[in-house]
Amino acid sequence: MRRLLVTGGAGFIGANFVHHVLEHTEDEVVVLDSFTYAASRRALEGLPAGRVRVEEGDVRDEGLVDGLVGELAGGDEPGAVVHFAAESHNDNSLRDPSPFVTTNIMGTFTVLEAVRRHGVRLHHISTDEVYGDLELEDPGRFTEDTAYRPSSPYSASKAGADHLVRAWVRSFGVEATLSNCSNNYGPWQHVEKFIPRQITNLLDGGRVKLYGSGNNVRDWIHVDDHSSAVLRILDRGAAGETYLVGADGERSNLEVVRAILRLMGRDPDDFDHVADRAGHDLRYAIDSTRSRTELGWVPRFTSFEEGLARTVEWYAAHADWWRPKKAAIEAAYAAKGQ
Ligand code: NAD
Ligand code: DAU
Repeated sequence: MRRLLVTGGAGFIGANFVHHVLEHTEDEVVVLDSFTYAASRRALEGLPAGRVRVEEGDVRDEGLVDGLVGELAGGDEPGAVVHFAAESHNDNSLRDPSPFVTTNIMGTFTVLEAVRRHGVRLHHISTDEVYGDLELEDPGRFTEDTAYRPSSPYSASKAGADHLVRAWVRSFGVEATLSNCSNNYGPWQHVEKFIPRQITNLLDGGRVKLYGSGNNVRDWIHVDDHSSAVLRILDRGAAGETYLVGADGERSNLEVVRAILRLMGRDPDDFDHVADRAGHDLRYAIDSTRSRTELGWVPRFTSFEEGLARTVEWYAAHADWWRPKKAAIEAAYAAKGQ
C-alpha cells in the first residue's frame, strides 16, 4: 500500500488514473486540483471516501503543496506525488500562453521544491510533444534520447518543466521519474479535444471539423493504458529515468475522422476542412520499447478502432456531462474559423 498525491486528479487523465489505482491497488489517494474549466467533479463521484480525499487548490500554492507533500513523508507506507496538473490544450496556449507558463513551469517548480524538502518521490507526467514533430515520411519515432524541440507554448512549457525535474534529480538528488506519453483518448476527455469534439458534434447534429489537410499524424493510446504504464513506473521505474509511453496507434487525423464517421453510421467523407492550427505539428510517434522491455508494460487496447468504438458509446451515454460545456467551446472555435 502507498499513499499518493495526484495533482490534476480531476482532469481527463488524472481522474482515469485515480480510478485505475483504486481498482488495481490498495493505495490511498489525495487529489489536488484547482478545478479549472478542464476538471470534472463528476469524474470523481462515488469513489470510496476511506481511500480518496479531494483537496481543491492550486499547484502553484507553495504552502498548500508543502503541507500535502509533508503528509506523505515519514509514514509507515511509502508516499509519492504523481504530477498531472497542467494546462493541456495547444489551441488555448496559442490564445493565451500565460497560465501555461505559470501552471506548467511554476507549478512543477513548486512540487519539486516540496518533494525536495520532504524527501518524497515524484513521478512527473510529460508529453511526447516536447520532442517537436517528425516529418510525415520519416520512418523514425521518438525515443528517450530524442532531443527536445518543442513548437507550441504548451509543449515549450512542458519541456521547461521536464528540464526542471531533471535538474532537481541531478543537483539535489530528488527521487523522480518522468514519462512522455502520446495522445490519449477515452472517457472524461474534455470536448475541446479532437476526438470528443468530433463525436459530440455528430451526436449534437453538427459536423466534423478537420484542421488543414488532415494529414497530420498522432499516435493514439487509450487512457487506461497510460494509467497502467504510470503504475508500472511507480512500481518498477528507476529513479532519474524517463519512460516513453505509446501503443503503436499512429493514425492521420483524416483516418480518425473517417473511423468516427463510419462508427456513427455516417458517410466517411462528410466532414468540413477548417482553418489550420498555427504552427501545427506534423507527426508524433512513440517508440515505447524501453517501457515494454525494462518495465514489462504492455498496452491492453491494441485495437484503436475497438477503443474508439467504446469511446463513442461512452459519449453517447454521458451527454448530460458534456453538453453543458459544448456550446461555449464551439462558439470559441467558430470565432477562429474552426
Ligand atoms: P486536462 O486539461 O484534462 O486536466 C488537467 C487538470 O489539471 C484539470 O483537472 C485542471 O483543473 C488541473 N489544473 C490545471 N491547472 C492547475 C493548477 N494551477 N493547480 C491545480 N490543478 C490544476 O489534461 P489531461 O489531458 O488530463 O492531461 C494531464 C497531464 O497529462 C498533463 O500534464 C498533460 O501535459 C499530460 N499529457 C496529456 C496527454 C493527452 O493526450 N491529453 C498526453 C500526454 C501527456
Ligand atoms: O501528444 C500528446 C498531446 O496530445 C498532449 O500533450 C496534449 O495535452 C493533448 O491535448 C494532445 O495534443 P494535440 O494537439 O495533439 O491534441 P488535440 O486533441 O488538440 O488535436 C489532435 C489533432 O487533431 C491535432 O493534429 C489537431 C487536430 N484537430 C484538433 C481539433 C480540436 C482537428 O483536426 N480538428 C479539431 O477540431
